[in-house]
Amino acid sequence: MAEKLDLISKCVRTFQDFPTKGILFYDICPILKDPKALAAVTDLFEEHVRHTYPQVDLIVGLDARGFLFGPLLAQRLGVGFVPIRKKGKLPGLTSSVAYGLEYGKAEAEMQEDAVSAGQKVLIIDDLLATGGTLHAACELIKHQKAELLGCLVVIELKFLNGSEKLQSTPVFSLIQY
Ligand code: PRP
Ligand code: MG
Repeated sequence: MAEKLDLISKCVRTFQDFPTKGILFYDICPILKDPKALAAVTDLFEEHVRHTYPQVDLIVGLDARGFLFGPLLAQRLGVGFVPIRKKGKLPGLTSSVAYGLEYGKAEAEMQEDAVSAGQKVLIIDDLLATGGTLHAACELIKHQKAELLGCLVVIELKFLNGSEKLQSTPVFSLIQY
């Protein structure tokens, strides 16, 4: 496990003042480029979910970078994947929640028939910063009357206290800063 975490950590790089001045951007692209690092992310998430949430029915991933990790994990677990997208991208009946980002504003949207009442759901994203994005996703899942088990992220920026915004929803992160 330590070896895998080390491999993943080495693939995370930062860019100062992106996308706007004052923001330190955590870039996960090198993880995707290294098949061993990407497999390590999926391995560690799979291990955690099999141990802690064996009852999970669905993995819900967040637009855009949650899509890079979510379907891989869902396939490993043998469960379905559902996307939460930024507004205006999904056809049919949708519900949406507005939220603030570290750098700007956005609206998260999900198809109403994607998650059913009572289904046990885990939400996945690349990174937890202020928690605005994951909080909006949690609201969408609760709106569907599904059972939210918790959230999974590759990186958690602890100093921004994003997990406090998620109240009682547990967050599992692979790397913390
Ligand atoms: C980034 C990141 C997380 C979110 C975290 O997404 O991928 O989803 O910010 O920030 P928060 O905890 O402060 O809400 P962003 O929407 O910037 O871009 P993306 O579409 O590339 O995922
Ligand atoms: Mg994102």
